[in-house]
Amino acid sequence: MAGADVFNIYQNKSNLRWVVLATAAVISLGSILYTNLLVNKLKERERSFIRLYAKTLEFALDESVTINQDINFISEEIILQNNTMPLIIMDSLEKVMGYRNIKVDSTKSEAALHEKLRKMARNMATEYKPIRIAPINPATGEPYLVQFLYYRHSNLLTQLIYYPYVQLSVIAVFGFIAYMGFSYSRTAEQNRVWVGMAKETAHQLGTPISSLMAWVEYLKADEQFANNEFLDELDKDIAKLQLITERFSSIGSVPVLNEEDIVAIAGKVADYLRTRVSSKVKITVESMHKSVIGYVNAPLFEWVIENICKNAVDAMAGIGHITIKIQQASDWRIFIDITDTGKGIPPAKIKQVFNPGFTTKKRGWGLGLALAKRIIENYHKGRIFVHASEPGKGTTFRIILNRQKNP
Ligand SMILES: Nc1ncnc2c1ncn2[C@@H]1O[C@H](COP(=O)(O)OP(=O)(O)OP(=O)(O)O)[C@@H](O)[C@H]1O
Ligand SMILES: [Mg+2]
Repeated sequence: MAGADVFNIYQNKSNLRWVVLATAAVISLGSILYTNLLVNKLKERERSFIRLYAKTLEFALDESVTINQDINFISEEIILQNNTMPLIIMDSLEKVMGYRNIKVDSTKSEAALHEKLRKMARNMATEYKPIRIAPINPATGEPYLVQFLYYRHSNLLTQLIYYPYVQLSVIAVFGFIAYMGFSYSRTAEQNRVWVGMAKETAHQLGTPISSLMAWVEYLKADEQFANNEFLDELDKDIAKLQLITERFSSIGSVPVLNEEDIVAIAGKVADYLRTRVSSKVKITVESMHKSVIGYVNAPLFEWVIENICKNAVDAMAGIGHITIKIQQASDWRIFIDITDTGKGIPPAKIKQVFNPGFTTKKRGWGLGLALAKRIIENYHKGRIFVHASEPGKGTTFRIILNRQKNP
């Protein structure tokens, strides 16, 4: 498998893609889980802080305790310490007694402000159970002024909760842009190689062909050879060489698309192939219409049909039937289905057959279908794919072409 060794990288590409995707998923999941762990720990810490805070408040309100300076200092330190966690204190009738770390609109009336705070407090209660503060009245021994402290985790913690998502999105966007840039430059490089090789080949073939033509003319002028049939054969071979040159030079430049009869082109390729393959291989062209017009570059399109039919012949090991079926699928599109009765393509390989270098043949380069795809998709803006394939039964390749110049 000469081609396979050279282009091995193309077959590993899809595996590599899965490895990269799986790694990215593991990293993302890991970072989200780890941050969650941190968030939960910090939540617990904030909760115990707010309990201490509530206790301090209760203590400060308790009249049975004679507050000396030290205690006052400690409790105030704790109360002032909280400059991150939003909290609201209301009595049991939902009268707002105080709040901290909540931004309020100072232009609003007090009633409106309290209404808003009440709403916020109820919201807070859905997430964190409010803490009851009930200082004892020393005279009765009963709690008086029962209040509730509503709270929520700090904004810092909210930021931490969203942080991994923001970070991962930024990385994903960056990765996507980098991937696009990379694959664009790779495609551009491939294009240069294809075009450069094709131009060079056409150029190199030019000189010996014109020389051959001159020699044939010279021989024809000689009476000794004038009516010899080998000259006709030589003429045919030169014509074939010229066709090859034309194909290479078309692929090396921007090919011109013309209105062509697809049925006639298919017929021509079939005629050409019939003379070259075993008589046990039948090649037929089928079409509902006598002619079907599409926009193609004839030399390149012939090349595509020829490549697919040659593969079909290879797949049939000398005996079988190739059908080229041409259909006007719609006002816009033409289907060309090339079906063989060969060995078929295993399902796992179907996606790979168009990769440059994919071959299962001893003498194959794995370039036939890569070239066909390039010609159909890049130059004709059409599509080519394996329409159906069953191991042991055969394969159908479908080409979709445009009937209009600018679809
Ligand atoms: N009609 C078909 N039936 C079964 N297998 C096919 C058929 N057409 C293509 N393949 C498979 O796809 C592979 C790639 O085909 P492609 O034409 O690109 O390269 P190749 O024929 O191996 O070599 P090259 O065309 O460059 O001489 C083939 O080696 C073969 O395994
Ligand atoms: Mg081939």
